[in-house]
Amino acid sequence: MIDIKKLNQDSENEIKSVKTADELFVVEKKYLARGDGEVVKLLRQLKDLPVEEKRKIGPEIQELKKYIEDLVNRRRSELADEAQKESEKYFDRSLPGKPVGRGTAHPISQFMDRAEDIFTRLGFETVDEREVDNEFYNFDALNTPKDHPARDIQDTYYVMNPESWSLKHQSNDTRYKIQDTRLLLRTHTSTAQIRAMKDRKPPVRIISPGRVFRHEATDASHETTFNQLEGFVVDKNIRVSDLIGTIKEFFARMYYDKDIKLRVRPHFFPFVEPGMEIDISCIFCNQKGCSVCKHSGWLESAGSGMIHPEVLNNMGVDPKIYSGFAFGFGIDRMVMVYYGIDDIRLLYSGDLRFIKQF
Ligand code: PHE
Repeated sequence: MIDIKKLNQDSENEIKSVKTADELFVVEKKYLARGDGEVVKLLRQLKDLPVEEKRKIGPEIQELKKYIEDLVNRRRSELADEAQKESEKYFDRSLPGKPVGRGTAHPISQFMDRAEDIFTRLGFETVDEREVDNEFYNFDALNTPKDHPARDIQDTYYVMNPESWSLKHQSNDTRYKIQDTRLLLRTHTSTAQIRAMKDRKPPVRIISPGRVFRHEATDASHETTFNQLEGFVVDKNIRVSDLIGTIKEFFARMYYDKDIKLRVRPHFFPFVEPGMEIDISCIFCNQKGCSVCKHSGWLESAGSGMIHPEVLNNMGVDPKIYSGFAFGFGIDRMVMVYYGIDDIRLLYSGDLRFIKQF
């Protein structure tokens, strides 16, 4: 005979009397296990009964099952509450908490943030550009000839499988019909000069900070990944003096407690004419000569120049009406000089003992 009442009573008694979660688990299995639990055994007996009996008893067994499940769940949470209370007896609320480590910004981020802040006050807008770009924006549009050595695999990281990607990636720029251009990791932030002008008209003052990549053998002063801060201005009557004045003002604010002098040397970059390199007076020795400036009194700080008319054309700007200047800071070197870090690889080591000093 099927005795639902008895099972009901037995299970209730057993469940209520268990003292631990492990015991409860055993009882739960005894009644509810899929293969050989008491409830399943009852269900199996059903098939030998006449139909009317089945109709009556079937639902009763289902109800029993539900009843046992509820009991088990209730007992389980009771046991959990009891365990919690028990452990609180031994919990000393007066003990100090475990210290939570507070993060700090990476020295490069700190430096970048300050630089961005200064340029913002000087009226510059910050534009973020992509790290994966293509040969067109990195070289062609910047007036860099097809046979320029910088394009070489030895200097530039190209991205595999350009066929499937490259065209998709610039199809939204209506200024150009780009036939076939390889994807690459940008080798400088100058890509922003063309990219940012897609939906802007002069006058503009723009900076674009970010990571750049070059295929180099790493040593204390070379990394394959480093940071630049690009800046450029396009307006009527922009002159070299505007470039020098802007850069001088930047450094005066960045190193406000030092008396900074600027030195300008001619230098060739395909996208500027004239092109120059800008050095600042050594912030450590005040030009008396030290190991940081290698006793020259000067620190190399930026590549710069007046934007080449061809590049202005590529920006969609008429070089007969407008002119502009551009510069690119090597941020890592500045950070190293500023904090007295002697190995660039430390900056990317992710070593907390190093990072925590800033
Ligand atoms: N893009 C140049 C470099 O990576 C720097 C530069 C920027 C030079 C803007 C002139 C104008 O070296």
